[in-house]
Amino acid sequence: MWSLSKQELLFLVQSYHQVFMVAMFAIVVTFFVSKACKRVIPEKSDIPGRLGIPFLGETFSFLSATNSTKGCYNFVRLRRLWHGKWFKTRLFGKIHVFVPSNEGARMIFASDFVQFNKGYVKSMADAVGKKSLLCVPHESHKRIRRLLSDPFSMNSLAKFVENFDKVLSERLRNLETSRKSFVVLDFSMRITFDAMCNMLMSVTEDSLLRQIEKDCTAVSDAMLSLPVMIPGTRYYKGIEARKRLMETFREIIKRRRSGRESSEDFLESMLQRDSYPSNEKLDDLEILDNILTLIIAGQTTTAAAMMWSVKFLDENREAQDLLREEQLAITKKKPGGAYLTLEDVNRMSYGSKVVKETLRMSNVLLWYPRVALNDCKIEGYEIKKGWHVNIDATCIHFDPELYQNPMKFNPSRFDGMQKPYSFIPFGSGPRTCLGINMAKVTMLVFLHRLTRGYTWTVDDMDTSLEKKAHIPRLRSGCPITLKAIKVT
Ligand code: HEM
Repeated sequence: MWSLSKQELLFLVQSYHQVFMVAMFAIVVTFFVSKACKRVIPEKSDIPGRLGIPFLGETFSFLSATNSTKGCYNFVRLRRLWHGKWFKTRLFGKIHVFVPSNEGARMIFASDFVQFNKGYVKSMADAVGKKSLLCVPHESHKRIRRLLSDPFSMNSLAKFVENFDKVLSERLRNLETSRKSFVVLDFSMRITFDAMCNMLMSVTEDSLLRQIEKDCTAVSDAMLSLPVMIPGTRYYKGIEARKRLMETFREIIKRRRSGRESSEDFLESMLQRDSYPSNEKLDDLEILDNILTLIIAGQTTTAAAMMWSVKFLDENREAQDLLREEQLAITKKKPGGAYLTLEDVNRMSYGSKVVKETLRMSNVLLWYPRVALNDCKIEGYEIKKGWHVNIDATCIHFDPELYQNPMKFNPSRFDGMQKPYSFIPFGSGPRTCLGINMAKVTMLVFLHRLTRGYTWTVDDMDTSLEKKAHIPRLRSGCPITLKAIKVT
């Protein structure tokens, strides 16, 4: 019945030519659409991405992004464009998944230490010390964190605010009087460092401060370096600097214990526990490693955030005016020349929103790295034991579903409530930033003195970022010139 002659077949094709063409077209379209759909909607459990060749994977692209003035987050941004919100990659021999959602962040933070942990980096432990809060295992972490938190109480914070305001007012006044341009980043790095050393160990002598600062910078540089003890390398310099720092800190502790020196500071509150049972005190190495950790964790982060606040306020005059109005109102309620108190800082409601918006947009820490301790699923995506999962705070902070018009600097967006885990500049869970309150008051005091006392012009508008930096900072450091405001 189906055996047609050549002529009959030709006749059929000619008669049904149009139907035939439509059918062929439909088959071709169906083929390509189904292929495209497969690419757009991968198996939910499979995370898209390119792992590249074994070990190296995309390491060179990552290093090249880190080495450019667009910053290392550009590596992440590009892969999101190629693969979608969730993607995986291979860096330095490890598979990394960038977790882009507040729901994913919630799951990881909620099972920190149980299902996930910080990856062990040898150079980091060698640099800040094995007893540092950043490196110790769960049980010691709980005890050390509890004991370290004590001196970050409201009482110490109140003292910190007054000391910081005094030093800051004087330094800004000197800069304004000189009428010279200065680099905000250098200024903020120096002043946060000095304030922290004062708060931790009452070190105020300039030559000692500069020596400690130089060594802390070398230790900080060594934290993510290749751990090879060859003279001239970052690692070698960092380990040598650590030895000098430990000697300096030990000497300060010795003087305190001998009664030759005494002060009301963080170190003193640690030493007062000398006679306590072992679970209620820190041993000497724990004190030393954690003083170093606090300086390193606190200085660069806070200083970078201060720099970004100046840049964002310069670009958003309306926010700057509103902030100045609030700060002038606080000044007017105080006796002339009086320094700020913690109560004043607690009244800065618009100021707090400026701090929040600065932290949302600057993403001083771009993502928070963890390692999966077991196979698991996050939002249906399969994660294998040993994979690195990076909570991508930057992606969450710029998610248009969580923040309307996310590229706009708009402190008033914080008038309302945020969705859980949508604002995480200080992390969350058992590893939440220990210096969260100190960082906030430091920024508020800075914003108060700056906007209540001065207007400023930014002297270099270049927006390129510093190369080889893991904390995004302007390459220029944001140079400004101050002009005093006459308060009536
Ligand atoms: C704007 C300034 C700051 C920002 C944005 C910031 C951010 C963070 C974040 C996101 C974490 C958690 C990282 C993670 O989960 O992997 C963290 C941890 C930490 N921060 Fe901060 N920080 C700031 C200032 C400070 C200051 C001033 C100090 C100390 C004086 C400090 C001390 C610490 C310490 C010790 C940890 C480790 C906590 C732990 O593992 O239990 N930070 N910080």
